[in-house]
Order: sequence, then structure tokens, then C-alpha cells
Amino acid sequence: MLRDLCPALANKTYFNYGGQGPLPTPSLDAITASWQRIQELGPFTNDVWPYLSQEIHTTRRQLAQFCGVALHRLVLTENVTTGCVLPLWGLPFSAGDRLLISDCEHPGIVHACVELARRQQLAIDILPVKHLRHGYDDQTACNRAVLENLEQTLTPQTRLVVLSHLLWNTGQTMPITEVAAALNHHPQQPFLLVDAAQSFGQISVDEAAAAADIYAFTGHKWACGPEGLGGVALSERVLADAQPTVIGWRSLKDESKAQLDLEEPFHRDSRRFEIATSCVPLLAGLRCSLKLLEEEGNAADRLMQIRHWSAQLWNELHKIEGIELLLDGPPPAGLVSFSLPHGPATKEVVKQLGQQGIWIRDLADPNCLRACLNITSTADELVLLTNAIKHLAKDSSLH
Ligand SMILES: Cc1ncc(COP(=O)(O)O)c(C=O)c1O
Repeated sequence: MLRDLCPALANKTYFNYGGQGPLPTPSLDAITASWQRIQELGPFTNDVWPYLSQEIHTTRRQLAQFCGVALHRLVLTENVTTGCVLPLWGLPFSAGDRLLISDCEHPGIVHACVELARRQQLAIDILPVKHLRHGYDDQTACNRAVLENLEQTLTPQTRLVVLSHLLWNTGQTMPITEVAAALNHHPQQPFLLVDAAQSFGQISVDEAAAAADIYAFTGHKWACGPEGLGGVALSERVLADAQPTVIGWRSLKDESKAQLDLEEPFHRDSRRFEIATSCVPLLAGLRCSLKLLEEEGNAADRLMQIRHWSAQLWNELHKIEGIELLLDGPPPAGLVSFSLPHGPATKEVVKQLGQQGIWIRDLADPNCLRACLNITSTADELVLLTNAIKHLAKDSSLH
């Protein structure tokens, strides 16, 4: 069982998979073995280059398959944020273009858009999705509401839409393929940037990744890979139209040429967005984690297990007086967000639970607490969390 392979889960009650997943011991061993191999063969010798190329090629191919895109569309990155920002900043914008950003995006991505807008004289509009409260049983109504809001907030000048696949605060899934189809009918055909931080490793990503222009993910959350390795799937038109932004030898067709007058020095494929030296041993670690996930069941079965746990927690919390759940029904995936309006501040709740070895996180907007359930969660963990919250809710009702 995957759970038994994760030392991080042995000594705590863990619900922060959306922040970072635990690294299984076999994945750590795979990283160490790869690092050793590099030292045996190299580190900087002709003997090591084939090994490094093979590691990169194998991982790129596997991640491309995962995302349902051709190999040349998959960029290896270090995290979600660089996967979003590197291609985003290279898109062909003109002054006066508008960016439409959902109101549930991560602060790092939002401020990358704000700074891009300042430099290129773009305007920003907001796509409201935070107020949506539909649970899994009401997914169709949720999707319809997202598409209606999209239609109302798109303008003739919109050149880019930014929307996460799975909202990190409310826990809802967004209808990415339908959004992509709607944007295709828009006269400007705006680019679609999708933050997949919470989806990769948790829900199926291939259809959304293939439909989006920029689909950026990380291995270190739901996929239980090492921190420092992610990827981004790019559309053909992004590859054709976007210029590289942070440039280094890996972006170049010929890394040995430094002449100033080279006509097209950059790779034509995804590698134009790769930069320079990175940590190759992590690749073996992520591949190992993905293999371990698959051994637990296919993507659909794993999501069913995740939903089973999140529905159970949602139902238990729903029974507790003084708890407000963000969604009106059990969630579509593993994120359960809630608040104790009359209880201690969210940071204080996190601290008090942490003192009991129970780890959830607080979020600022909307101000709430978030517990993540994964295939590695257990019924005992749910009982511990529910009882601890019950106590907090009871204490606050006494004051
Ligand atoms: C929705 C979302 N986007 C972006 C990030 C940032 O991830 P990274 O550090 O991999 O760039 C996170 C991390 O929590 C996230 O939840």
C-alpha cells in the first residue's frame, strides 16, 4: 500500500496533500540511485550525457502521455508557477488587450498577470467563480454557471483566460474542455491558461491538458513526487506564437553557438521554454511516484476512493453545529473547505490541530480551513479530525 511507503504519514494525521504530498521511500531511493549513477558516469563526462538525455526523454514522454499531448508539446519545469509564467509572458499581446482571470487563482499567478499587464498596457477583468457552491451532485449546474459567467465577462479585446482546473480554495472542478470550446468560438480566440496544481495526480487531466493552451502542473502535490519538478503542456499555437522568456542554453537549438546574428536560435518545440541546468535525479523520483499511484488503481478508481473520503468528511462536518462548509454538497474531489465563524481564527485552529499532530491549512480568500483527502487517507484519520473539530466548535459555542 502506498500509505505504508510514506514515512511522512507514519507519525502524523495528514490532510495537506494540496500543499505537498508525502514522498514514498521508493521514490526517494530512485532519486538517490539516479544521483549515484550520475556520479559514477560523470558528473561532466561524455559517458554521462546519454544517461541524462534518456532520463529527460523518458520522463517527458511519460508526462506527455499523461497529459494526452504529443511529446514536443511538453515542457519540463520546476513547479506550477514557472509552468504558467514562462509561456504566459511570451504570448503575443498588444496594448489594450484584456486578460480575464478567475477570482480563485493563486496569488503568485495573479501577480504575474498584474505585472505583465502593467508592462504591456493590458487590462484585467475578473471571472467570478468563488461564489459557486455546487457540490459533486450538482456539477452540471456548476459547469453551466461557469460558462454563463464566462460569456458575460469576455470582451472583444480578451486575449487570455486564466482558470484553474480544480479550485484550490473551494475545491470545485472547472469545465476546462467546455471553456476551451467556448473560447474557440470567440472572435479573438483567447488563449486559455490552466493552473493544474490541484488536479495533476488527483483527477484525470488528459482532456483538459490537450484542450488548454497552457496547462501547468507540479509533481509534488497530489502525485506525491519530489518538490522541484513539474511540467506544462502547450498548444501548437503557443509553440508557434510565443517567444521564449527566461532564456538559457537548453532553449537553444545549438547550445555551442553564441553569435549575435543567429536567425532563429531557439528550439521550435517545447524546449524553447526550458532554461538551463536542473536536477535530473528528481525525474526518476516522479516516475516512481506515478508508478506507485497507478499500482493503487486506475485514475477513475483512485478518484472514487478520494471522493469516498471527502464525502465522508463533508457529511461528518455537516452534522456539527457551528461549522460552515464552503460547498452545499460533497465535493467533486479531495478538497474539503470549511470555517468556524464563531470559533478561533483560522490560523489558531491550524495551530491547535497541529499541536495534536493533525495537519490542515488555512486559506485567506475566502477565509477558511482546508482538509485534503487522498487515496492514502484512512477512516481513523477522519475520526481524529472530526472529533478535534467537534471540540473546537463546542468550545466556541460555550463562549
Ligand atoms: C492553485 C495553485 N497554484 C499554484 C501553486 C504554487 O505551486 P508551485 O509552488 O508548484 O508553483 C499552488 C500551491 O499551493 C496552488 O495551490
